[in-house]
Amino acid sequence: MKAIVVEHQAAGTAGMTLVDRPEPLAAINDVVVQVHASGFVPTELEWPSTWADRRDRDRTPSIPGHELAGVVTALGYGTTGLSLGQRVFGLADWHRDGTLAEYVAMEARNLAPLPGDVDFAVGASLPISGLTAWQGLFQHGRLQAGQSVIAHGAAGAVGSMVTQLAREAGAYVIGTGRAADRQKAIDFGANAFVDLENDTLEDVGRVDLVFDVIGGDIQKRSTALIRPGGTLVTAVGPAEARPVDGLVIDFVVESDRAQLSEIVQRVRDGRLRTNIGKVARLDEAIAAFNSGERRAGKTVIRVRP
Ligand SMILES: NC(=O)c1ccc[n+]([C@@H]2O[C@H](COP(=O)([O-])OP(=O)(O)OC[C@H]3O[C@@H](n4cnc5c(N)ncnc54)[C@H](OP(=O)(O)O)[C@@H]3O)[C@@H](O)[C@H]2O)c1
Repeated sequence: MKAIVVEHQAAGTAGMTLVDRPEPLAAINDVVVQVHASGFVPTELEWPSTWADRRDRDRTPSIPGHELAGVVTALGYGTTGLSLGQRVFGLADWHRDGTLAEYVAMEARNLAPLPGDVDFAVGASLPISGLTAWQGLFQHGRLQAGQSVIAHGAAGAVGSMVTQLAREAGAYVIGTGRAADRQKAIDFGANAFVDLENDTLEDVGRVDLVFDVIGGDIQKRSTALIRPGGTLVTAVGPAEARPVDGLVIDFVVESDRAQLSEIVQRVRDGRLRTNIGKVARLDEAIAAFNSGERRAGKTVIRVRP
C-alpha cells in the first residue's frame, strides 16, 4: 500500500516521504480500515508517540496522521460492534501507525459509524478537533448554560468547534485570534472577539471557562481571567501557570464512540459546521504540509478519489 512515513524528527514535515509499505494486519479487537480520507495535525511530529512505542522503543519509520474516515475491510479476532464494509470514522492510537496510508489497523472501539450522507472528507476532519472541543468543554470544563467561555484560536480547527459547541450549550463565547480571524470567529458563533495582537485580553474581565489551544504567555495571562471556581482547560500543556482561584486541566483527547456520534449528528442536522481549509490527495500531502501558507482550518487528505 502507499503510505507517508517519517524517520527523522529534526526534518519536520519536510522529512515526510511517500513509500510502499505492507498492508497492516488486524490484531485482537482490531479492524483494518481502507482509508478514504485522513486528517493530520502538524504538531504531531513533535509528539514522542510519533517516534516511540509505549515502552519508549524507536518505532520509525512511522506513519503519521491519526484521524480517518473509511470502510472496514477486515476484522481481528474477537472484534465486535463493527462489520465488514461498514463506513466508519475515528481517532487512531497515537503510538501505532496512522492514517496517511491506504489502510490502517486500529482498535474497533476507537471508531464510530459514519452515516451514509456524510462525506469521507468531512468525517476525517471531525475526530481530533470535535472530540477535543467536546471533552474540554463538557468533561473537563463542565460547561453549563449561561456561563462565559474564552475560546482561544476561535477560527482554528479546534477553536471553531469549541465556539460552536459552547454556543449551542447556551454559553456566552469570547473568541480570540489574529486580526484577520475576527469575521470567521463571529461566523462560527462567537459573541465577541479579541484580536490578541491589537486588543487587550484582560479587558474581557472574568469568565467561567478558558479553552486554551495557544499556550505560552496567552495561557499564563488567561489564568488570571478565571472566575473563582472556574476552569482553564488546555490542549497545549504542560500548563506552566497556576490559576489564582480556579482549576487548570491539561488533557489529551481520547477516542469515544458515543461522542463521535453526537458530533456527526450535529454536522448532519446543521448545528455544527466543519472547518476544512484544504483538501489534497495523498501524493500531494507532503507539498500541502510544506506550502508555507497560513492554514485556514483543517487540512484533509483524500486518500481514495
Ligand atoms: N491535547 C490535545 O488533545 C490536542 C488536540 C487537538 C489539538 N491540540 C493542539 O492544539 C493546538 C491547536 O490545534 P488546531 O488544530 O486547532 O490548530 P489551528 O487550526 O492552527 O488553530 C489554532 C488557531 O490559533 C491561532 N493562534 C495561535 N497562536 C496565536 C497567537 N499567539 N495569537 C493569535 N492567534 C494565535 C492560529 O493562528 P495562526 O495559524 O496564524 O497561528 C489558529 O487560528 C495545536 O498546538 C495542537 O497540537 C491538542
